[in-house]
Amino acid sequence: MKRPILIHPDPRLKKVCAPVADISDDLRKLADDMLETMYDAPGIGLAAPQVGVLERLIVLDCVKEEGEPPKPTVMFNPEIVSASEETNTYEEGCLSIPEQFAEVTRPKEVEVSWIDRDGKLQKQGFDGLWATCVQHEIDHLNGKLFIDYLGAMKRQMITRKMQKLKREKARM
Ligand code: NI
Repeated sequence: MKRPILIHPDPRLKKVCAPVADISDDLRKLADDMLETMYDAPGIGLAAPQVGVLERLIVLDCVKEEGEPPKPTVMFNPEIVSASEETNTYEEGCLSIPEQFAEVTRPKEVEVSWIDRDGKLQKQGFDGLWATCVQHEIDHLNGKLFIDYLGAMKRQMITRKMQKLKREKARM
């Protein structure tokens, strides 16, 4: 089931989310809903607070090559274990900040630990787009958006555009 995606500014997008205690069927259903919502958008990552659930859960799939099988990835309580000194700059966007993009510099490689949908502890290194995406999504769990990396002027400009977009949507 697709879920509505919250649009910035929204107080729920600024909250630090709580760790997940154990992986229940309800949480697995939420993860499935989030994947469906993400693929439909379409996007390459989605965090639980973006659908109004303040728990530490993200989903992602950064497979871009045509013909390559999809790689739906579900992470409960994801944590960055280590990050490279080398950085990478990507033009980022966010499903909660539609049609706005800006360059953000982050560590190029990260090692991440998480609990998978079967409740097993996983640890893996990520590089390239996957590394940027997983960091962007974990930021969401700490109430941080990609526009928080930008200067105040640019951030305010984007926020005003989103307020206008929300007003227009409310009138529809
Ligand atoms: Ni985002």
